[in-house]
Amino acid sequence: MTAISNAQSLDAYWMPFTANRQFKAAPRMLASAQGMYYTSDDGRRVLDGTAGLWCVNAGHGRREIADAVGEQLRTLDFAPSFQMGHPLAFRFAERLAEIAPGGLDRVFFTGSGSESVDTALKIALAYQRAIGQGTRTRFIGRERGYHGVGFGGISVGGLVNNRRVFTTLPGVDHLRHTHDLARNSFCEGLPQHGAELADDLERLVALHGAETIAAVIVEPVAGSTGVLLPPVGYLERLRKIATQHGILLIFDEVITGFGRLGTPFATEYFGVTPDIVTAAKGLTNGSLPMGAVFCGRHVHDALMHGPGNAIELFHGYTYSAHPVACAAGMATLDIYAREGLLTRGAELAAYWQAALLSLRDANHVIDIRTIGLVAGIELASRKDAPGARAYEAFVDCFERGLLIRVTGDIIALSPPLIVEREQIDTMVQMVREALARLD
Ligand SMILES: Cc1ncc(COP(=O)(O)O)c(C=O)c1O
Repeated sequence: MTAISNAQSLDAYWMPFTANRQFKAAPRMLASAQGMYYTSDDGRRVLDGTAGLWCVNAGHGRREIADAVGEQLRTLDFAPSFQMGHPLAFRFAERLAEIAPGGLDRVFFTGSGSESVDTALKIALAYQRAIGQGTRTRFIGRERGYHGVGFGGISVGGLVNNRRVFTTLPGVDHLRHTHDLARNSFCEGLPQHGAELADDLERLVALHGAETIAAVIVEPVAGSTGVLLPPVGYLERLRKIATQHGILLIFDEVITGFGRLGTPFATEYFGVTPDIVTAAKGLTNGSLPMGAVFCGRHVHDALMHGPGNAIELFHGYTYSAHPVACAAGMATLDIYAREGLLTRGAELAAYWQAALLSLRDANHVIDIRTIGLVAGIELASRKDAPGARAYEAFVDCFERGLLIRVTGDIIALSPPLIVEREQIDTMVQMVREALARLD
């Protein structure tokens, strides 16, 4: 139990994606952060192995972002974005357009990854209708996909716990996931087997009819479900099939965007250009909530029709293009550019991979997957207690000074992109020791 819990009640705050009663009985509290480290409320330094929640790509406590935010709050704290504008929104969109994934340089601002996903799905429907394909109302997602928690996101998502007690959109179907330990475990680089799973899209076209399908959405690398890499050739094949059938391809790059794989976006890493890309997280270095949807001009321009005084897309958020978030985002892009962070992952990827793969013989490990500066370490589950082993590793690591993330029995690591080699070694050593203590 950490210090703060003795001083105040923890009852009022209903925590998201948390076992509230378990947490409140033994809280884990973070009090401050700088660079690669958090400080817990009882004064311990905790190495950040997860960039917060896959978002603090430039490391913590960046003064330039804090200054830009403070300045913006004093200059223009809020401006409505419906039928009104402010210059920073246009400047920020233009800056993003310069690095836009696959040249998708029309940018719609949202407040989060979930909002980006729902926005992308709605844009896909509006696009299909605008080009005379109004019967295309279905979406195709993928098993084990995570696309946030909006009704659109959970519908195309493929994680059962996020879906089972909520209703989901009608007319959604799913590709099979690509995780195949029997054929691909401990692969160095992308899995060699499984490109043919993209043909599931052909099967779903044969089942539902292409004229009913608006879009297919996938994470290029599935993050939240436990770091699942696309098999060699898989994304290319998906692109080809989608194009053949007039189906829009959406890449959800909420995690893979802004340098996580060693390229600015996964789109460049794989050399596959979708029609729409969703982003959030690293957009503002996690400092303020903001998301963005990158659209190809063909998508955007198809909607710029009709009378000039007509609103083209009846969609938007109070906080779309929030000026303070735009200021945070601009300062973030400056840091990324100055420190080369959007490609630094490529320089470290080989070191990262070798360090992580050294855990191959660690206790309970049945697979390790890495790409850029992401890793998934899969553990054998305890009989009748799936997830227990990884959760215990998570608590143990935190108590000893390392923040990791776990999903089921998979440990995910995704440090800030400023990570140094010695810190990678420390992370790996601490995980090894934690696993050694586990039964
Ligand atoms: C791929 C992906 N899409 C969407 C989201 C949802 O983002 P948010 O939590 O900002 O709504 C996440 C969050 O982890 C994500 O990983």
